[in-house]
Amino acid sequence: MPVTRRTADSDTVALNPVFVRPGEATELSRFAIPEGESLPETAYQIVHDEAMLDGNARLNLATFVGTWMDGPAERLYAETFDKNMVDKDEYPATAAVETRCWTMLAGLWHAPDPRDTIGTSTVGSSEACMLGGLALKRRWQHARRAAGKPTDRPNLVMSSAVQVCWEKFCNYWDVEARLVPISEEHKVLDGDDLESYVDENTIGVVAILGVTYTGMYEPVRRIADALDRIQAATGLDVPIHIDGASGAFIAPFVQPDLEWDFRVARVASISTSGHKYGLVYPGLGWVVWRDKAALPEDLIFRVTYLGGDMPTLALNFSRPGAQVLLQYYMFLRLGMDGYRRVQQSAHDVARYLAGEVAKLPQFALWNDGADIPVFAWRLRDGHTENWNLYHLSDRLRTRGWLVPAYPMPDDLADVTVQRVVVRNGLSRDLAGAFVSDLRAEVAYLDRLSAPMPVEGQRPSFHH
Ligand SMILES: Cc1ncc(COP(=O)(O)O)c(C=O)c1O
Repeated sequence: MPVTRRTADSDTVALNPVFVRPGEATELSRFAIPEGESLPETAYQIVHDEAMLDGNARLNLATFVGTWMDGPAERLYAETFDKNMVDKDEYPATAAVETRCWTMLAGLWHAPDPRDTIGTSTVGSSEACMLGGLALKRRWQHARRAAGKPTDRPNLVMSSAVQVCWEKFCNYWDVEARLVPISEEHKVLDGDDLESYVDENTIGVVAILGVTYTGMYEPVRRIADALDRIQAATGLDVPIHIDGASGAFIAPFVQPDLEWDFRVARVASISTSGHKYGLVYPGLGWVVWRDKAALPEDLIFRVTYLGGDMPTLALNFSRPGAQVLLQYYMFLRLGMDGYRRVQQSAHDVARYLAGEVAKLPQFALWNDGADIPVFAWRLRDGHTENWNLYHLSDRLRTRGWLVPAYPMPDDLADVTVQRVVVRNGLSRDLAGAFVSDLRAEVAYLDRLSAPMPVEGQRPSFHH
């Protein structure tokens, strides 16, 4: 087994002498492609051992991304990891499955006519959001040009708590990000004061189903009502894109009566991550438009150089097709009943955990896991000067749990929260173990007789 030197100045990975074969290098550069070859077993062992130093995904309460699939799914993955999603000529069966999947999603999200929608798989929600945003921008440009108006200052209205992919979208495609600040009174974008943000240059409004910071839903119906009032007063007809990275796979099963999807006429497009509550390995996302008219035809490329006439709509060209097949597997394997059961049980665990955290006098819940199975809390004002949530996060890490602490977005940046994401696999038993560790670490910190140092504290990964 190779030994990896983990000093900051080390440029090489040294092989354990037991495994060095005659003639093989004993040290391999860490940052340059080695001159010579290694035996496959040696290269495997090095990479395997490096990857082993990653955390234990089961105890990671920070990520939304799926980290477990069952045996048949793994077999299917191993059989299909060579498929290139873009090569629809070579892999027509995979291409057909892709279309079936987004048509199923269109139905799940109540598109008026799922067979008349258009959609695509992507590498994740970020790419899906970019495509949703691009369609909004292009539709707005067409309408403005047709009316003989300028198109040089588009803006997109959204909460200050959007995921970073929306800031990227605005930056990469020259769109002004109009952020509506969240506050103690308006914990999410809820349509209040929307008229101060929307104008003739607004390409759309983003509503998030499951805000990354807290897991809360933005009330799509209320946002749409506010836009209806704006339209009645000004004539501006502003569409909504739903960033349902997590919630678009939760709400249909856990809150089926909540109207957040294509049942709301203003919703033009919906994106989600197959690799979050879609229950597939990373990276897979989906975006679906209400109908073909919602996606300007001039965003679709027709390429022929892989031997056929291929419509493509994605930022990347080549990308793995296996995840798409895995999504189809999950749809067939679980069906509506299975998804309902899996999502409901994650939801039940989140509600249980939020209830336990609420019982601790040190904390105040920010939200209680009623939307997606995610909740956040903060330290009660005045509880202690000796420790903060970053210290608690560090203490929990010593027991293997990753539970990030981080500041809320700009206008609430003085509020620090800690968040738990419950995914399939965090069983009620494991959640019970987490509660005892949390209680023990809080008790430990409360016993401190002097403040812990705060130098070098920084938010942990929480996207
Ligand atoms: C609301 C929201 N949008 C977009 C994303 C980006 O998703 P992905 O990691 O699939 O690109 C996330 C990720 O957590 C998210 O929570």
